[in-house]
Amino acid sequence: MRKIRTIGFLCLVLFAENLFANEVNIFSARHYDSDVQLYEKFTAKTGIKVNVVSGKSGALEKRIIEEGADSKADLYITADAGRLGAFDAKGMLQAGLNSAAIKAAVPKNFRTSKWVGIAKRARIVYFAPERVSGAELTGLTYESLADPKWQGRLVIRASNNIYNQSLVASLIKNNGKGKVSKWSEGMVKNMARSPKGNDRAQILAVAAGEADIAVANTYYLALMLSGKKGPEQQAAAKKVKPFFPNQDGRGTHMNISGAGLVKGAPNKANAIKLVEFLLSEEAQNHIVNNTFEYPMIAGVSPHPLVVNMGLDFKQDLNTKVVSYGKRQADALEVMTAAGWK
Ligand SMILES: [Fe+2]
Repeated sequence: MRKIRTIGFLCLVLFAENLFANEVNIFSARHYDSDVQLYEKFTAKTGIKVNVVSGKSGALEKRIIEEGADSKADLYITADAGRLGAFDAKGMLQAGLNSAAIKAAVPKNFRTSKWVGIAKRARIVYFAPERVSGAELTGLTYESLADPKWQGRLVIRASNNIYNQSLVASLIKNNGKGKVSKWSEGMVKNMARSPKGNDRAQILAVAAGEADIAVANTYYLALMLSGKKGPEQQAAAKKVKPFFPNQDGRGTHMNISGAGLVKGAPNKANAIKLVEFLLSEEAQNHIVNNTFEYPMIAGVSPHPLVVNMGLDFKQDLNTKVVSYGKRQADALEVMTAAGWK
């Protein structure tokens, strides 16, 4: 009898624990150790336990979709507004990230009610100073990268890369699909090689003399300069210089890493609290000093290596990042049609 009572009591404890578990479940495609330290700070502050499932974005999305109503996922954290937008378009996110604190922290063009930017990055041009003159760079735009003067001199990664899809989506949003089809053809003609490798590989190609200019995100140069990718990449990074396109017009293409509130999130309130924490000054400082991104909120300075790249550039704050997902299919279509590998 006593045994049965004990088992009954244990069951009750387990049931209660499950019912009142104060936790939040993050599915994260970011692979920074620093993010884990951040979650520990959040737990220390709030008592909310953070469970992290790490993986590549495609695998995480597939898992959340397949688990459906059984999914424990509260927040999906990943890079690129195009990726978050596409996941939202599949009906996998829900509204809720529109608290007063979030709205005050994140400018309108970097958020929706279902997903918000946590940090910013710019997709810019890198050049070899000994082979590219100042005159050649004057007034340089993304649009003018397709000019014949860059023939055989440009490297950029493949069309299946989400950063490129979002960049091209922003071009379609601003210039129309027809013009960007032509532009894509020009880009392919200008490539020094068939696209291969990640963003750092493009910077390395310019450093090695394989090309004169490259397109890559801002934080990669700082990451290489920091020495975290080894002395060879550090030396290579010193051989190239950053250039921020479209300064005379709408500004440089901006993107985000961000968080989406998953549909059916079992811990919705905790998920919102965590996003609010990630947008706090303390968390933003932690993020930018570890990832070399730009802060999402005002009043926080990026890492000194990023500051050195120049902070006074004009960001494109008119093209809403939500358009990257909406024009993603068109972007991929024009690149593929142009023979962009
Ligand atoms: Fe990246």
